[in-house]
Amino acid sequence: LTAPRTAPQAGAAQTEKPGIRAIRYDRYGGPDVLRLEEVPDPVPGPGEVLVRLHAASVVPADWKVRAGLLRHLFPVSLPKIPGRDGAGVVVACGPGADFAAPGDAVCVVAQHVEDGTCAGSIARPAHAVVPMPAGLSFAEGAALMHAGICAWIMLVETARAAPGMRVLVHAGAGAIGGLAVQLARHLGCEVAATCRAANAGYVEAMGAHRVLPYDRADFAAELRERDLVLDLLGGEVHARSYRVLRRGGHMVRLIAAPIEDRAAEHGIRLDLARIHDEPHALRAVVDLAGRGVLRPQVAALLPLAEAAEAHRRLEAGEVSRGRIVLDTQA
Ligand SMILES: NC(=O)c1ccc[n+]([C@@H]2O[C@H](COP(=O)([O-])OP(=O)(O)OC[C@H]3O[C@@H](n4cnc5c(N)ncnc54)[C@H](OP(=O)(O)O)[C@@H]3O)[C@@H](O)[C@H]2O)c1
Repeated sequence: LTAPRTAPQAGAAQTEKPGIRAIRYDRYGGPDVLRLEEVPDPVPGPGEVLVRLHAASVVPADWKVRAGLLRHLFPVSLPKIPGRDGAGVVVACGPGADFAAPGDAVCVVAQHVEDGTCAGSIARPAHAVVPMPAGLSFAEGAALMHAGICAWIMLVETARAAPGMRVLVHAGAGAIGGLAVQLARHLGCEVAATCRAANAGYVEAMGAHRVLPYDRADFAAELRERDLVLDLLGGEVHARSYRVLRRGGHMVRLIAAPIEDRAAEHGIRLDLARIHDEPHALRAVVDLAGRGVLRPQVAALLPLAEAAEAHRRLEAGEVSRGRIVLDTQA
């Protein structure tokens, strides 16, 4: 734990609020640029609440932003606290913030261009705060938000998935893919999913009717006439995915490995899901989790101080079966 960057003024030390612990980086680079520091406890502004965070998830874009790979998309200012989502308890309300009260358990989101959730607390406005679904742990609440929003936007807002649709979900053992499998099944779709063979039982338990192990066989040789593909991977998986769609079918992708758009040639529609944090999406996700439809998966729970290890594992492709989550109070 390093000292606060700004030393308290002489004579002011006794009135100074105690700081909080946060993970920060002040330059782009490998996981080692992440440092556990003491920073000032945020003060909730007008319309904001202060949330004492208990959990923050680590998402793939966290390491990509930290490595400087997404500067064109997310122009962050340094030093930066990473963390796209989290869960905790409201401890104070700023002027006019009557949408939550001290003691409320909540889930929060933060954009990559803002200071994030890998910290002891965060101040957030109404549009970035939702009640924690009953029955979830803080770690599950953190694992739910960004992944659930992506799955919901892909399937509901972008693909308009409907009962009977034949869907292929790639990366079904990942955080987003696992929730997408659950949601597609809930929506009445016939769900196939890809994952490594060792995760086949796990992805079936998420609700997949059929699992295609990417380390054993080529999904494109086994599937045909799909109505919808959710492409979370891009690259060569994207290239092969055209073959499994019927003409007039739909591929919905996320930003991942570079792709070549061959939609016209194959007579399909290709859309990039526009991921946003609008309140209706947040509410839809917590509602689905509250009803037990979405069951967020926690791959590992690490103390805040091990954020660099969490980034390293994610970057190395070692995280499977859900989100890696940091205990922000441990
Ligand atoms: N705005 C956006 O467009 C946006 C937003 C969020 C995320 N994303 C991107 O979406 C992707 C998924 O995010 P996530 O959070 O779900 O990641 P994640 O939890 O790290 O999941 C990665 C999963 O990918 C699976 N995988 C790797 N290679 C595969 C292959 N050839 N076939 C099938 N599955 C394979 C792995 O499955 P196994 O464990 O079975 O090996 C792993 O579980 C990331 O690339 C992320 O950057 C984009």
